[in-house]
Formats: sequence, C-alpha cells, structure tokens
Amino acid sequence: MNRITVFVARRVFGDIVDRLRERFDVRTHDGDAPLSQPELIAALQGCEGVFITGSEKIDAVLLDACPRLRAVCTMAVGYNNVDVPACTARGVLVTNAPGVLTETTADFGFALMMATARRLSESERFLREGRWKHWSVEMFAGGDVHGATLGILGMGRIGQAIARRGHGGFDMTVAYHNRSHLALDVEAALGATWMPLPDLLRSADHLVIVTPYTPDTHHLVGAAELAMMKPTATLTNIARGGVVDDAALAQALAAGTIAAAGLDVFEGEPAVHPALLALRNVVLTPHIASASVPTRRAMANLAVDNLLAALGGGTPPTALNPEVLEQDR
Ligand code: 8YV
Repeated sequence: MNRITVFVARRVFGDIVDRLRERFDVRTHDGDAPLSQPELIAALQGCEGVFITGSEKIDAVLLDACPRLRAVCTMAVGYNNVDVPACTARGVLVTNAPGVLTETTADFGFALMMATARRLSESERFLREGRWKHWSVEMFAGGDVHGATLGILGMGRIGQAIARRGHGGFDMTVAYHNRSHLALDVEAALGATWMPLPDLLRSADHLVIVTPYTPDTHHLVGAAELAMMKPTATLTNIARGGVVDDAALAQALAAGTIAAAGLDVFEGEPAVHPALLALRNVVLTPHIASASVPTRRAMANLAVDNLLAALGGGTPPTALNPEVLEQDR
C-alpha cells in the first residue's frame, strides 16, 4: 500500500519531524527561509499534507496546483497566510496552534511593553555607544508601568493573559476593546472593563495590540487613532503587521503624538519601515513573541498532532474548518 506523503515546509526540530516519519513518507525543506510560492507548489506535488509556519502562503492558486493536498497544518496560532474558505471549498482541512503559546507570548508582550515604557533599548544603545559620561536626574526617565492604565486591543487568550499580568502583578487598571465582551465573571477576575475603541485609545497609558489580522483590522490603528492617544502613551504591537499603519506610527512617534512604541511585527516583514528604524523611541524585535524553546516545540508538536490525526482518520485537536471532516466521513 502506498504511504501518505507529507511535506514539512521549514527546518523544524528533527525529533518532532520523526513523529511524522513513523507514519508517513516525509519530504522536508531544510532551509531556514520560506520557499517562494512556485517552489512550494513544486515541492507539494503528490503530497497530501503540509506542515507550515506563519510565513508560507496557502491560497487558491496553490490549492488548485496541488490537488492531492488534504491537510494544511500550521504551527502558528495566526492564520492570515492561509485562505481558509478556499481550503474548505476544496475539502482541505486547516489547523492552527492555539493555546500552547499563550503564556509565552503574553510574557513577551508584557516585556516589550515594559521595555518601551522604561526606554530599555534606547538606554542600552546609549551605553554601548560610549555616550554615558555621568548619571543625571532625568536621564532616560520614562513612564511607569505599575498602577498605569493598560489598554488591550483584542481580548482573546493572549490578551487575557496580558491582562492577568497587568492586573495581578502590576496593579494596573485594565481596559480592553474587542468585538465581543468577556463574560462578567471573567471581566471581574481580570479587573477588565470593555470600552469603545476611541475611549480605549484616549485612556490607555500603555496600549498593547493582540488582535488577529483580517480585512476588518487592516490599519485599525492609523493616524486618526494615534491622534486620540495621550502624548505620554506607548503602543506595543505583538499581533500582526498591518493592524497598525507603520508609516503613520513613525510620523506620530517623530511628532511626539505618542511617547514610544514596541514592535515585534511589521507591515511587509521582514522589511521594516525605514522611518521606524531611524527613530530613537522604538523597541524593535523580529517577530519572536512566541520564541521560547519549550513553546516553539509545543507549537511544532501540535501541528504534527493535527497532521497525524487529519491524515490518519483521527480528530485533529485544533481544526479551523472541522466541517471538512464531516464531508469526508
Ligand atoms: C509565530 C505567531 O512565531 O503563532 C503566531 O501566529 O505569530 C508566532 O507565534 C509564527 O507565526 C510561527 O510560524
């Protein structure tokens, strides 16, 4: 009997890929950079499943060129790189990796917000450049985190984990905006109050963005929204490039409309808007919010669990379009 063939589209922990080898014929792209769309299409010929990250684009063109494909399993929680309706229409199951990265990503979001408020990168650059000649009273004086108002835009799992840190650990007032309101008992436990977006922007001392990227959230924070924020406020984006208008943000940071920004994600990354690179009051990191070794392993393992179940007749733990399974059985 022919074995099922799957493709692993990026270099991933070898022992985790070996879990796939026990059941399937496995082809791999061992490079650390994503394949181009034509390369990915060529590599997927004859494959029934694919393990991807947040960078490989799965769209109708690719699906039509890879008719044997039945399962697309990403190790990311965000899936804006996958056209899920196009997959569903072709009977292709899609899974993502929610849950396993929540706490690690919230740790990083909180750290980035703190580094931004307390001017960590800027002061380290100053020291490394040999410019520290004497201590002075207002040197790198920033904003406080404890006791401040934490504004969270997008209140899913990661937003709630950030709220817990702010409320429980730093005595912050937590405000949030989300399409749906949290249950009252959850709001009470997090000390969180729902607000319309303009109110959130006006009241936040530190705005943390954790909303998924969809057509509705494209440039959700642009020039008009930034103008509503306090001149002492910070903005931290660990969601996706594109939720914030990076050009407008760079202008606002240069003009003093807001005090500082911490950015882990960028429009068109890995390219970063040159105006952002030129600013002193930004902390910039290369999309690493979920990058702890245990969490990256858990994300990869969950994608493998999904692939094994999807192609082995089981129930994938985190399917995005489980209705496809009903069509099959
Ligand atoms: C990942 C992420 O680093 O899970 C997500 O949505 O943005 C990050 O945790 C990356 O996308 C994994 O491929």
